[in-house]
Amino acid sequence: MQSVKIGILGLGTVGSGTVNVLTRNSREISRRAGRDIEIYRAADRDLDKPKGCDTSAINLTDDAFDIINDPEIQIVVELIGGTGVAKELVIKAIENGKHVVTANKALIAIHGNELFELAQEKGVTISFEAAVAGGIPIIKAMREGLAGNRIEWLAGIINGTGNFILTEMREKGRDFADVLAEAQALGYAEADPTFDIEGIDAAHKLTIMASIAFGIPLQFDKCYTEGISRIAQEDVLNANELGYRIKHLGIAKKTTAGVELRVHPTLIPQRRLLANVNGVMNAVVVKGDAVGPTLYYGAGAGSEATASAVVADIVDIVRALTTDPENRVPHLAFQPDALKDTPILPMSEVVTSYYLRIHTLDKPGVLADITRILSNEGINIEAILQKQPEEHEGMVPIIMLTQAVVEKNMDQAIAQIEALDTVPDSIMRIRMESLGG
Ligand code: NDP
Ligand code: HSE
Repeated sequence: MQSVKIGILGLGTVGSGTVNVLTRNSREISRRAGRDIEIYRAADRDLDKPKGCDTSAINLTDDAFDIINDPEIQIVVELIGGTGVAKELVIKAIENGKHVVTANKALIAIHGNELFELAQEKGVTISFEAAVAGGIPIIKAMREGLAGNRIEWLAGIINGTGNFILTEMREKGRDFADVLAEAQALGYAEADPTFDIEGIDAAHKLTIMASIAFGIPLQFDKCYTEGISRIAQEDVLNANELGYRIKHLGIAKKTTAGVELRVHPTLIPQRRLLANVNGVMNAVVVKGDAVGPTLYYGAGAGSEATASAVVADIVDIVRALTTDPENRVPHLAFQPDALKDTPILPMSEVVTSYYLRIHTLDKPGVLADITRILSNEGINIEAILQKQPEEHEGMVPIIMLTQAVVEKNMDQAIAQIEALDTVPDSIMRIRMESLGG
Protein backbone atom coordinates (compact mmCIF):
# COMPACT_ATOMS: atom_id res chain seq x y z
CA MET A 1 0.00 0.00 0.00
CA GLN A 2 1.19 3.53 -0.75
CA SER A 3 2.74 5.48 2.10
CA VAL A 4 0.91 8.44 3.60
CA LYS A 5 2.80 11.65 2.93
CA ILE A 6 2.97 14.24 5.65
CA GLY A 7 4.39 17.76 5.73
CA ILE A 8 5.81 19.29 8.89
CA LEU A 9 5.64 23.04 9.52
CA GLY A 10 8.33 24.17 11.97
CA LEU A 11 11.45 22.23 12.87
CA GLY A 12 12.04 23.63 16.35
CA THR A 13 11.82 21.70 19.62
CA VAL A 14 8.66 19.72 18.83
CA GLY A 15 9.16 19.56 15.06
CA SER A 16 12.64 18.05 15.44
CA GLY A 17 11.37 15.63 18.06
CA THR A 18 8.61 14.54 15.70
CA VAL A 19 11.10 13.84 12.89
CA ASN A 20 13.30 11.90 15.31
CA VAL A 21 10.47 9.75 16.70
CA LEU A 22 8.90 9.08 13.30
CA THR A 23 12.29 8.09 11.87
CA ARG A 24 13.54 6.00 14.77
CA ASN A 25 10.27 4.11 15.32
CA SER A 26 9.11 3.98 11.71
CA ARG A 27 8.65 0.21 11.62
CA GLU A 28 6.66 0.01 14.85
CA ILE A 29 4.59 2.99 13.74
CA SER A 30 3.80 1.45 10.33
CA ARG A 31 2.75 -1.80 12.00
CA ARG A 32 0.33 0.19 14.12
CA ALA A 33 -0.95 2.56 11.43
CA GLY A 34 -1.25 -0.09 8.69
CA ARG A 35 0.61 2.21 6.25
CA ASP A 36 4.08 3.71 6.07
CA ILE A 37 4.23 7.36 7.08
CA GLU A 38 6.63 9.41 4.98
CA ILE A 39 7.94 12.80 6.01
CA TYR A 40 7.62 14.08 2.49
CA ARG A 41 8.37 17.73 3.15
CA ALA A 42 9.18 20.06 6.03
CA ALA A 43 9.27 23.83 6.34
CA ASP A 44 11.24 26.06 8.63
CA ARG A 45 11.78 29.79 8.52
CA ASP A 46 15.55 29.61 8.65
CA LEU A 47 16.97 26.54 6.93
CA ASP A 48 20.55 27.50 7.79
CA LYS A 49 19.88 27.30 11.53
CA PRO A 50 21.02 23.94 12.97
CA LYS A 51 18.15 21.54 13.58
CA GLY A 52 17.74 18.95 16.31
CA CYS A 53 17.09 16.20 13.75
CA ASP A 54 18.49 14.69 10.55
CA THR A 55 16.81 16.43 7.61
CA SER A 56 18.98 14.94 4.87
CA ALA A 57 16.18 12.77 3.47
CA ILE A 58 13.49 15.48 3.68
CA ASN A 59 12.56 17.93 0.95
CA LEU A 60 12.91 21.25 2.84
CA THR A 61 11.42 24.65 2.12
CA ASP A 62 11.44 27.97 3.89
CA ASP A 63 7.94 28.71 2.61
CA ALA A 64 5.38 26.78 4.66
CA PHE A 65 2.70 27.48 2.03
CA ASP A 66 4.62 25.19 -0.38
CA ILE A 67 3.54 22.32 1.88
CA ILE A 68 -0.03 23.48 2.26
CA ASN A 69 -0.35 23.66 -1.51
CA ASP A 70 1.39 20.36 -2.30
CA PRO A 71 -1.30 17.95 -3.57
CA GLU A 72 0.76 14.89 -2.54
CA ILE A 73 0.53 15.78 1.17
CA GLN A 74 -2.43 14.40 3.09
CA ILE A 75 -1.53 15.42 6.63
CA VAL A 76 -0.08 18.77 7.68
CA VAL A 77 1.65 18.87 11.05
CA GLU A 78 1.66 22.44 12.38
CA LEU A 79 4.48 22.97 14.90
CA ILE A 80 5.18 26.68 14.47
CA GLY A 81 2.97 27.93 17.28
CA GLY A 82 1.01 31.12 17.93
CA THR A 83 -2.12 32.46 16.33
CA GLY A 84 -0.59 34.39 13.44
CA VAL A 85 0.80 32.57 10.44
CA ALA A 86 -0.04 29.22 12.07
CA LYS A 87 -3.74 30.05 11.87
CA GLU A 88 -3.47 31.08 8.22
CA LEU A 89 -1.62 27.88 7.39
CA VAL A 90 -4.10 25.64 9.21
CA ILE A 91 -7.10 27.29 7.54
CA LYS A 92 -5.52 26.97 4.10
CA ALA A 93 -4.56 23.35 4.76
CA ILE A 94 -8.15 22.50 5.73
CA GLU A 95 -9.48 24.35 2.69
CA ASN A 96 -7.12 22.26 0.59
CA GLY A 97 -8.64 19.10 2.08
CA LYS A 98 -5.71 18.16 4.32
CA HIS A 99 -5.93 16.75 7.81
CA VAL A 100 -4.11 18.76 10.44
CA VAL A 101 -2.15 17.72 13.51
CA THR A 102 -1.07 20.52 15.83
CA ALA A 103 0.52 21.05 19.24
CA ASN A 104 -0.72 24.63 19.28
CA LYS A 105 -2.95 25.15 22.32
CA ALA A 106 -3.26 28.90 21.78
CA LEU A 107 -4.65 28.30 18.30
CA ILE A 108 -7.13 25.65 19.45
CA ALA A 109 -8.27 27.46 22.61
CA ILE A 110 -8.82 30.78 20.83
CA HIS A 111 -9.87 29.76 17.31
CA GLY A 112 -10.84 26.11 17.75
CA ASN A 113 -14.62 26.64 17.37
CA GLU A 114 -14.27 28.12 13.88
CA LEU A 115 -11.48 25.75 12.84
CA PHE A 116 -13.47 22.66 13.85
CA GLU A 117 -16.51 23.94 12.00
CA LEU A 118 -14.43 24.46 8.86
CA ALA A 119 -12.82 21.03 9.23
CA GLN A 120 -16.23 19.41 9.65
CA GLU A 121 -17.45 21.15 6.50
CA LYS A 122 -14.40 19.95 4.53
CA GLY A 123 -14.51 16.41 5.95
CA VAL A 124 -11.06 16.58 7.56
CA THR A 125 -9.78 16.17 11.10
CA ILE A 126 -7.79 18.51 13.33
CA SER A 127 -5.93 16.54 16.00
CA PHE A 128 -4.36 18.29 18.97
CA GLU A 129 -3.31 15.74 21.61
CA ALA A 130 0.08 17.44 22.05
CA ALA A 131 -1.61 20.75 22.82
CA VAL A 132 -2.53 19.63 26.36
CA ALA A 133 -0.10 18.23 28.91
CA GLY A 134 2.68 17.39 26.42
CA GLY A 135 3.10 13.64 26.11
CA ILE A 136 0.16 12.60 28.31
CA PRO A 137 -2.67 11.21 26.16
CA ILE A 138 -5.27 13.16 28.14
CA ILE A 139 -7.39 14.22 25.17
CA LYS A 140 -7.82 10.64 24.03
CA ALA A 141 -8.49 9.46 27.57
CA MET A 142 -11.24 12.01 28.13
CA ARG A 143 -12.72 11.96 24.64
CA GLU A 144 -12.80 8.21 24.25
CA GLY A 145 -11.81 6.37 27.42
CA LEU A 146 -14.23 8.30 29.65
CA ALA A 147 -17.04 8.56 27.09
CA GLY A 148 -19.46 6.74 29.38
CA ASN A 149 -19.05 9.18 32.25
CA ARG A 150 -20.58 12.43 33.34
CA ILE A 151 -17.39 14.29 34.18
CA GLU A 152 -17.75 16.22 37.44
CA TRP A 153 -14.44 18.02 37.68
CA LEU A 154 -10.84 17.94 36.59
CA ALA A 155 -7.75 19.52 38.05
CA GLY A 156 -4.24 19.44 36.74
CA ILE A 157 -0.71 20.67 36.71
CA ILE A 158 -0.65 21.52 33.03
CA ASN A 159 2.33 23.77 32.56
CA GLY A 160 5.71 22.06 32.76
CA THR A 161 7.71 25.29 32.95
CA GLY A 162 5.71 26.62 35.90
CA ASN A 163 5.90 23.33 37.77
CA PHE A 164 9.64 23.14 37.11
CA ILE A 165 10.08 26.64 38.58
CA LEU A 166 7.95 25.95 41.69
CA THR A 167 9.73 22.65 42.31
CA GLU A 168 13.23 24.11 42.02
CA MET A 169 12.24 27.04 44.28
CA ARG A 170 10.89 24.68 46.93
CA GLU A 171 13.52 21.94 46.77
CA LYS A 172 16.66 23.97 46.12
CA GLY A 173 15.69 27.52 47.10
CA ARG A 174 16.65 28.60 43.57
CA ASP A 175 15.91 32.00 42.13
CA PHE A 176 12.79 32.34 39.92
CA ALA A 177 14.57 33.99 36.95
CA ASP A 178 17.42 31.52 37.00
CA VAL A 179 15.10 28.50 36.82
CA LEU A 180 13.05 30.11 34.07
CA ALA A 181 16.22 30.58 31.98
CA GLU A 182 16.99 26.88 32.40
CA ALA A 183 13.43 25.91 31.35
CA GLN A 184 13.88 28.03 28.22
CA ALA A 185 17.21 26.39 27.40
CA LEU A 186 15.61 22.97 27.79
CA GLY A 187 12.91 23.89 25.24
CA TYR A 188 10.03 23.75 27.77
CA ALA A 189 8.96 27.37 27.72
CA GLU A 190 6.69 29.09 25.22
CA ALA A 191 8.14 31.55 22.71
CA ASP A 192 6.86 34.22 25.12
CA PRO A 193 7.55 32.76 28.58
CA THR A 194 5.05 35.08 30.29
CA PHE A 195 2.49 32.65 28.84
CA ASP A 196 3.94 30.00 31.17
CA ILE A 197 4.46 32.19 34.24
CA GLU A 198 1.21 34.13 34.09
CA GLY A 199 -0.95 31.07 33.51
CA ILE A 200 -2.02 31.87 29.93
CA ASP A 201 -0.62 28.61 28.55
CA ALA A 202 -2.37 26.65 31.31
CA ALA A 203 -5.59 28.56 30.59
CA HIS A 204 -5.37 27.57 26.91
CA LYS A 205 -5.05 23.93 27.94
CA LEU A 206 -7.76 24.09 30.59
CA THR A 207 -10.16 25.70 28.11
CA ILE A 208 -9.62 22.76 25.76
CA MET A 209 -10.04 20.13 28.48
CA ALA A 210 -13.20 21.76 29.87
CA SER A 211 -14.86 21.71 26.47
CA ILE A 212 -14.07 18.05 26.05
CA ALA A 213 -15.16 17.23 29.59
CA PHE A 214 -18.46 19.11 29.63
CA GLY A 215 -19.45 19.40 25.95
CA ILE A 216 -19.29 23.21 25.81
CA PRO A 217 -17.78 25.46 23.12
CA LEU A 218 -14.21 26.70 23.70
CA GLN A 219 -14.34 29.92 25.76
CA PHE A 220 -10.78 30.95 26.56
CA ASP A 221 -11.81 34.56 27.24
CA LYS A 222 -13.91 33.41 30.22
CA CYS A 223 -11.13 31.47 31.93
CA TYR A 224 -9.89 33.09 35.16
CA THR A 225 -6.10 33.26 34.93
CA GLU A 226 -3.57 33.97 37.66
CA GLY A 227 0.13 33.16 37.41
CA ILE A 228 2.89 32.19 39.80
CA SER A 229 4.98 35.35 39.70
CA ARG A 230 3.61 36.73 43.03
CA ILE A 231 4.45 33.60 45.01
CA ALA A 232 7.19 34.34 47.53
CA GLN A 233 9.57 31.86 49.11
CA GLU A 234 7.83 32.59 52.43
CA ASP A 235 4.50 31.30 51.03
CA VAL A 236 6.19 28.12 49.86
CA LEU A 237 7.63 27.61 53.37
CA ASN A 238 4.37 28.52 55.16
CA ALA A 239 2.42 26.07 53.03
CA ASN A 240 4.94 23.37 53.84
CA GLU A 241 4.69 24.10 57.57
CA LEU A 242 0.90 23.75 57.42
CA GLY A 243 1.05 20.41 55.55
CA TYR A 244 0.39 21.77 52.05
CA ARG A 245 2.19 22.38 48.75
CA ILE A 246 1.62 25.25 46.38
CA LYS A 247 0.89 24.03 42.87
CA HIS A 248 -0.19 25.98 39.82
CA LEU A 249 -3.46 24.26 38.93
CA GLY A 250 -6.01 24.42 36.18
CA ILE A 251 -9.42 23.53 37.62
CA ALA A 252 -12.68 22.95 35.75
CA LYS A 253 -15.74 22.00 37.75
CA LYS A 254 -19.37 21.48 36.80
CA THR A 255 -21.73 22.95 39.38
CA THR A 256 -25.49 23.37 39.32
CA ALA A 257 -24.98 27.07 38.51
CA GLY A 258 -22.47 26.59 35.70
CA VAL A 259 -18.86 25.71 34.97
CA GLU A 260 -15.90 26.93 37.01
CA LEU A 261 -12.89 27.54 34.77
CA ARG A 262 -9.87 28.79 36.64
CA VAL A 263 -6.07 28.73 36.65
CA HIS A 264 -4.28 29.88 39.79
CA PRO A 265 -1.71 28.88 42.40
CA THR A 266 -3.40 26.48 44.80
CA LEU A 267 -2.59 25.01 48.20
CA ILE A 268 -3.19 21.28 48.17
CA PRO A 269 -2.59 18.78 50.97
CA GLN A 270 0.89 17.24 50.79
CA ARG A 271 -0.54 13.72 50.78
CA ARG A 272 -2.35 14.20 47.44
CA LEU A 273 -0.65 12.71 44.40
CA LEU A 274 -0.81 16.04 42.59
CA ALA A 275 1.19 17.65 45.41
CA ASN A 276 4.04 15.28 44.57
CA VAL A 277 4.19 15.92 40.83
CA ASN A 278 7.49 17.70 40.39
CA GLY A 279 9.77 19.25 37.79
CA VAL A 280 8.51 19.37 34.23
CA MET A 281 6.04 16.57 34.89
CA ASN A 282 2.32 17.24 34.46
CA ALA A 283 -0.62 15.39 35.93
CA VAL A 284 -4.36 15.66 35.54
CA VAL A 285 -7.03 14.20 37.80
CA VAL A 286 -10.39 13.67 36.11
CA LYS A 287 -13.39 12.70 38.19
CA GLY A 288 -16.11 10.82 36.33
CA ASP A 289 -19.37 9.82 38.00
CA ALA A 290 -18.96 6.17 37.00
CA VAL A 291 -15.21 5.63 37.19
CA GLY A 292 -14.43 7.95 40.13
CA PRO A 293 -11.15 9.87 40.16
CA THR A 294 -8.57 8.92 37.51
CA LEU A 295 -5.01 10.22 37.28
CA TYR A 296 -2.88 10.85 34.19
CA TYR A 297 0.79 11.61 34.69
CA GLY A 298 3.79 12.21 32.44
CA ALA A 299 6.15 14.70 30.85
CA GLY A 300 4.33 17.94 30.18
CA ALA A 301 6.86 19.45 27.79
CA GLY A 302 10.02 18.62 25.87
CA SER A 303 10.97 17.57 22.39
CA GLU A 304 10.27 13.84 22.17
CA ALA A 305 7.67 13.67 24.95
CA THR A 306 5.54 16.10 22.97
CA ALA A 307 6.41 14.37 19.70
CA SER A 308 4.97 11.18 21.19
CA ALA A 309 1.53 12.83 21.23
CA VAL A 310 2.00 14.38 17.78
CA VAL A 311 2.89 11.00 16.27
CA ALA A 312 -0.05 9.28 18.00
CA ASP A 313 -2.36 11.79 16.32
CA ILE A 314 -0.77 11.14 12.93
CA VAL A 315 -1.27 7.38 13.41
CA ASP A 316 -4.93 7.91 14.40
CA ILE A 317 -5.56 9.96 11.27
CA VAL A 318 -3.83 7.40 9.02
CA ARG A 319 -5.98 4.63 10.50
CA ALA A 320 -9.15 6.65 9.87
CA LEU A 321 -8.30 7.96 6.39
CA THR A 322 -10.92 5.78 4.74
CA THR A 323 -13.67 6.27 7.33
CA ASP A 324 -16.79 8.32 6.80
CA PRO A 325 -15.98 11.87 8.08
CA GLU A 326 -19.37 12.01 9.82
CA ASN A 327 -18.46 9.01 11.93
CA ARG A 328 -15.07 10.06 13.24
CA VAL A 329 -14.49 10.88 16.90
CA PRO A 330 -15.84 14.45 17.31
CA HIS A 331 -13.19 17.12 17.86
CA LEU A 332 -14.59 18.12 21.26
CA ALA A 333 -15.84 14.64 22.23
CA PHE A 334 -19.52 15.62 21.90
CA GLN A 335 -21.26 15.84 18.52
CA PRO A 336 -20.95 19.46 17.27
CA ASP A 337 -24.73 19.99 17.32
CA ALA A 338 -24.91 18.64 20.89
CA LEU A 339 -22.59 21.21 22.50
CA LYS A 340 -24.35 23.03 25.35
CA ASP A 341 -24.29 26.67 26.29
CA THR A 342 -23.65 26.04 30.01
CA PRO A 343 -22.49 29.35 31.51
CA ILE A 344 -18.93 29.81 32.77
CA LEU A 345 -19.18 31.19 36.31
CA PRO A 346 -17.53 34.51 37.16
CA MET A 347 -14.75 34.10 39.73
CA SER A 348 -16.78 36.07 42.29
CA GLU A 349 -19.24 33.15 42.47
CA VAL A 350 -16.63 30.44 42.97
CA VAL A 351 -16.50 28.83 46.42
CA THR A 352 -13.10 27.81 47.86
CA SER A 353 -11.17 27.97 51.08
CA TYR A 354 -8.15 30.26 51.32
CA TYR A 355 -4.61 30.73 52.55
CA LEU A 356 -4.09 34.36 53.57
CA ARG A 357 -0.73 35.95 54.37
CA ILE A 358 -1.20 39.32 56.06
CA HIS A 359 1.76 41.50 57.08
CA THR A 360 0.67 43.69 60.00
CA LEU A 361 2.27 46.26 62.27
CA ASP A 362 3.21 44.90 65.70
CA LYS A 363 0.38 46.63 67.65
CA PRO A 364 -2.29 45.40 70.05
CA GLY A 365 -5.76 44.72 68.62
CA VAL A 366 -4.64 44.06 65.03
CA LEU A 367 -5.61 40.42 65.08
CA ALA A 368 -8.97 41.25 66.66
CA ASP A 369 -9.70 43.76 63.86
CA ILE A 370 -8.89 41.19 61.20
CA THR A 371 -10.93 38.38 62.73
CA ARG A 372 -13.89 40.74 63.20
CA ILE A 373 -13.86 41.66 59.50
CA LEU A 374 -13.64 38.01 58.46
CA SER A 375 -16.45 37.08 60.82
CA ASN A 376 -18.69 39.90 59.48
CA GLU A 377 -18.24 38.43 55.99
CA GLY A 378 -19.20 34.97 57.25
CA ILE A 379 -15.65 33.61 56.92
CA ASN A 380 -14.60 30.91 59.38
CA ILE A 381 -10.92 30.57 60.27
CA GLU A 382 -9.61 27.01 60.13
CA ALA A 383 -6.02 27.63 61.30
CA ILE A 384 -3.90 30.60 62.27
CA LEU A 385 -0.16 31.09 62.54
CA GLN A 386 1.65 34.18 63.77
CA LYS A 387 5.35 34.57 62.98
CA GLN A 388 8.12 36.37 64.87
CA PRO A 389 8.21 40.07 63.94
CA GLU A 390 12.01 40.51 63.81
CA GLU A 391 12.41 38.13 60.86
CA HIS A 392 10.22 40.37 58.71
CA GLU A 393 11.49 43.95 59.10
CA GLY A 394 9.32 44.65 62.14
CA MET A 395 6.15 43.35 60.47
CA VAL A 396 4.19 40.48 61.91
CA PRO A 397 3.22 37.93 59.29
CA ILE A 398 -0.13 36.35 60.13
CA ILE A 399 -1.00 33.23 58.16
CA MET A 400 -4.61 32.06 58.09
CA LEU A 401 -6.39 29.15 56.51
CA THR A 402 -10.12 29.70 56.10
CA GLN A 403 -13.08 27.46 55.49
CA ALA A 404 -14.84 27.57 52.13
CA VAL A 405 -16.51 30.85 51.26
CA VAL A 406 -17.87 32.46 48.12
CA GLU A 407 -15.10 34.55 46.51
CA LYS A 408 -17.03 37.84 46.53
CA ASN A 409 -17.19 37.74 50.36
CA MET A 410 -13.46 37.12 50.52
CA ASP A 411 -12.87 40.02 48.10
CA GLN A 412 -14.83 42.31 50.42
CA ALA A 413 -13.02 41.09 53.53
CA ILE A 414 -9.60 41.56 51.90
CA ALA A 415 -10.49 45.09 50.78
CA GLN A 416 -11.51 46.01 54.34
CA ILE A 417 -8.42 44.46 55.93
CA GLU A 418 -6.13 46.18 53.42
CA ALA A 419 -7.79 49.48 54.37
CA LEU A 420 -6.65 49.12 58.02
CA ASP A 421 -3.78 51.45 59.03
CA THR A 422 -2.12 48.48 60.69
CA VAL A 423 -1.93 46.50 57.40
CA PRO A 424 0.48 48.38 55.12
CA ASP A 425 1.10 45.66 52.49
CA SER A 426 -1.34 43.98 50.14
CA ILE A 427 -2.56 40.60 51.32
CA MET A 428 -1.39 37.42 49.64
CA ARG A 429 -4.34 35.13 48.98
CA ILE A 430 -3.96 31.62 47.60
CA ARG A 431 -6.98 29.42 47.02
CA MET A 432 -7.04 25.94 48.50
CA GLU A 433 -8.44 22.68 47.16
CA SER A 434 -8.69 19.39 49.00
CA LEU A 435 -9.03 17.41 45.72
CA GLY A 436 -10.72 14.59 47.56
CA GLY A 437 -12.35 11.95 45.34
P1 NDP B 1 10.04 26.35 18.56
O1 NDP B 1 10.14 27.82 18.59
O2 NDP B 1 11.13 25.54 19.10
O3 NDP B 1 9.77 25.86 17.06
C1 NDP B 1 9.00 26.57 16.12
C2 NDP B 1 9.73 26.50 14.80
O4 NDP B 1 8.91 27.07 13.78
C3 NDP B 1 11.05 27.30 14.81
O5 NDP B 1 12.06 26.55 14.19
C4 NDP B 1 10.68 28.55 14.04
O6 NDP B 1 11.78 29.17 13.42
C5 NDP B 1 9.74 27.96 13.02
N1 NDP B 1 8.91 28.95 12.35
C6 NDP B 1 8.47 30.14 12.82
N2 NDP B 1 7.72 30.76 11.89
C7 NDP B 1 7.75 29.97 10.80
C8 NDP B 1 7.16 30.07 9.51
N3 NDP B 1 6.42 31.12 9.15
N4 NDP B 1 7.39 29.08 8.63
C9 NDP B 1 8.13 28.02 8.98
N5 NDP B 1 8.70 27.86 10.18
C10 NDP B 1 8.50 28.83 11.09
O7 NDP B 1 8.66 25.99 19.28
P2 NDP B 1 8.24 24.60 19.91
O8 NDP B 1 8.67 23.49 19.05
O9 NDP B 1 8.62 24.60 21.34
O10 NDP B 1 6.66 24.74 19.89
C11 NDP B 1 5.90 24.50 18.71
C12 NDP B 1 4.43 24.38 19.13
O11 NDP B 1 4.31 23.28 20.02
C13 NDP B 1 3.88 25.59 19.88
O12 NDP B 1 2.53 25.73 19.53
C14 NDP B 1 4.00 25.18 21.34
O13 NDP B 1 3.06 25.82 22.16
C15 NDP B 1 3.68 23.71 21.22
N6 NDP B 1 4.18 22.87 22.32
C16 NDP B 1 5.48 22.93 22.70
C17 NDP B 1 5.96 22.08 23.67
C18 NDP B 1 7.37 22.10 24.12
O14 NDP B 1 7.72 21.36 25.05
N7 NDP B 1 8.24 22.91 23.53
C19 NDP B 1 5.06 21.10 24.31
C20 NDP B 1 3.71 21.11 23.81
C21 NDP B 1 3.29 21.96 22.85
P3 NDP B 1 12.62 30.28 14.25
O15 NDP B 1 13.31 29.54 15.35
O16 NDP B 1 13.52 30.84 13.24
O17 NDP B 1 11.62 31.25 14.78
N1 HSE C 1 5.44 25.73 27.63
C1 HSE C 1 4.65 24.60 27.84
C2 HSE C 1 4.91 24.05 29.23
C3 HSE C 1 4.96 23.55 26.81
O1 HSE C 1 5.91 24.43 29.84
O2 HSE C 1 4.10 23.27 29.72
C4 HSE C 1 4.05 22.37 26.87
O3 HSE C 1 2.77 22.69 26.50
